[in-house]
Amino acid sequence: MIIENSKVISNIEIANNIFLLTVRSPQIASHGKAGQFCNIKVSNSNYPLLRRPFSICDINNDEVSFLFNIVGEGTKILSGKKENDVINILGPLGNGFLLNDDFDLAVFVAGGLGIAPFPLLQKELKNKKQIERFFGARTAAEIITLDFEESHWATDDGSLGRRGTVLDLLDSEINNFTNYKLKIFGCGPTPMLKALQKYSEEKKIKCEISVESAMACGFGICQGCPVEKNDKSGFYLICKDGPVFNSSDVIL
Ligand SMILES: Cc1cc2nc3c(=O)[nH]c(=O)nc-3n(C[C@H](O)[C@H](O)[C@H](O)COP(=O)(O)OP(=O)(O)OC[C@H]3O[C@@H](n4cnc5c(N)ncnc54)[C@H](O)[C@@H]3O)c2cc1C
Ligand code: FES
Repeated sequence: MIIENSKVISNIEIANNIFLLTVRSPQIASHGKAGQFCNIKVSNSNYPLLRRPFSICDINNDEVSFLFNIVGEGTKILSGKKENDVINILGPLGNGFLLNDDFDLAVFVAGGLGIAPFPLLQKELKNKKQIERFFGARTAAEIITLDFEESHWATDDGSLGRRGTVLDLLDSEINNFTNYKLKIFGCGPTPMLKALQKYSEEKKIKCEISVESAMACGFGICQGCPVEKNDKSGFYLICKDGPVFNSSDVIL
């Protein structure tokens, strides 16, 4: 775990209220893995007191990127960061996706800002596994494409791609991949993850999901981010035991 004062390289509004923040963080860049997150101190004062967690979106040499949208005070402050501002970042935190288990086709499934960890995951899987990408949003205006090409898209209102949820979209294509050993990687809002849990269980497809909750410390001290174990034997801490879980291991 590293605390690094990181200079802002750019902070670009890539869609309405959605920002791609890139910082120079050599140490975090050299240790970060897809699915891990960083806890960012959004201001130099004591307000807001708590850091805010964001998935590592991408790493290029010594630069780390985060994709975020404005939901409250912390992300509002973060959206105002300019080139050469310095941000204090704690990370990389959490476990990241498991990549060395037995599968040959990685199926990315994301809703909305859940697309955030996939650029780095794609980089880590490149030349090792085949990849299919399924991304959903409410409307075309909320679609963030990043640099993903040849992806399957769904919008709730049908304004881009297939009309319906990203799960409907996945289900309409899944029979094209029967010759592969699949593994689903899911990230997005909790209702989407719940649906994905059910779907992967029914279809008997291996599935990992990246789970979110409000967080304080980010590394297992405050006990503020529990998620119930599927066998009801207790709770995992999302920041320390996750945020990525085997989808059948947790009750959302
Ligand atoms: C492991 C992890 C990775 C994350 N990755 C990303 C990411 O890549 N991009 C991104 O935009 N966001 C991400 N988030 C969510 C992000 O941390 C919150 O949006 C952010 O902390 C909100 O801060 P704020 O001060 O702007 O809002 P606050 O003022 O703290 O909150 C505004 C409202 O949002 C609610 N809220 C805050 N955090 C969450 C949450 N995690 N889940 C549900 N409701 C919440 C609050 O209860 C409140 O109602 C991630 C969260 C976790 C735990
Ligand atoms: S955020 Fe403190 S234990 Fe998880």
